[in-house]
Amino acid sequence: MPSELILVTGSAGRVGQAVVNELLARGERVRGFDRVPTPGLLDAHVGNLTDAEAVRRAAEGAHAVVHLAATPDDADFMSDILPNNIVGIHHLMEATRLAGAKRLVLASSGQVNWWQRERGGPPIRPSDPLTPRYWYAAAKVFAESIGQSYAELHGLSVIAGRLGWCPRPDQEREFAGLACAKDVYFSPGDVGRFFHAAVKAPLSIRFAAVNATSRPLSVTHFDLSLTKELLGWEPRDQWPTGLPAGWCRPNGN
Ligand SMILES: NC(=O)c1ccc[n+]([C@@H]2O[C@H](COP(=O)([O-])OP(=O)(O)OC[C@H]3O[C@@H](n4cnc5c(N)ncnc54)[C@H](O)[C@@H]3O)[C@@H](O)[C@H]2O)c1
Repeated sequence: MPSELILVTGSAGRVGQAVVNELLARGERVRGFDRVPTPGLLDAHVGNLTDAEAVRRAAEGAHAVVHLAATPDDADFMSDILPNNIVGIHHLMEATRLAGAKRLVLASSGQVNWWQRERGGPPIRPSDPLTPRYWYAAAKVFAESIGQSYAELHGLSVIAGRLGWCPRPDQEREFAGLACAKDVYFSPGDVGRFFHAAVKAPLSIRFAAVNATSRPLSVTHFDLSLTKELLGWEPRDQWPTGLPAGWCRPNGN
């Protein structure tokens, strides 16, 4: 029997490619959706999140949706965050509901508890107060909130993963300059396995927000105990496993 369809938005991106590769390697049926073509995936829609009809078509027949497509860090609110992360989440939630999907996995961010670092300090637990870093993180809080509303109102099972740092190709210098990078690092292998576990977790979970990083090198910034309890997932990798060859390492190591 063919496996149930999983839609992955943002399938051409850094996280998206890790997720698509892991799901395909496990024999899952995957459809991509991105505004640019997705490498390595036959069933891939090219479209924009701001086009409600394109998102609805992509979600048709999906049992699970992994929503990654977004502006992935702070950027101009009116031209980037608003269309991609706010209007986009509206169209995605509606398309997921109309498709009758059972599970939605949202890519949130460790930045939603940013200022908690100075209040309670690490490790940050998912239950800690939401203190978003800025507009990008506030949009992630919005996505988590509407995800919880859909779980309560429409019976969709929603898991928001507050991700550590899986650096994109343009982030080499920034990654190298940040002391905590080794501790919040999220390897592509662990990213793929995390999203697979989130897709497959029991549908009895109505809504959960969980942290997800690889194993920290020295300081535990994010508590992963709820992730293990609910999803049965634990990271395997530790910095620098999975970093592109030739990357300079944080602190010059
Ligand atoms: N990489 C990380 O360390 C990290 C950490 C925390 C959260 N996240 C979240 O994970 C998700 C993926 O991030 P990433 O690092 O892979 O970024 P990325 O930029 O590599 O990938 C994002 C993808 O989304 C697509 N996209 C953006 N806007 C779109 C739109 N309007 N319509 C269709 N496609 C659109 C882009 O073309 C791109 O392929 C994002 O939601 C990001 O906020 C990433």
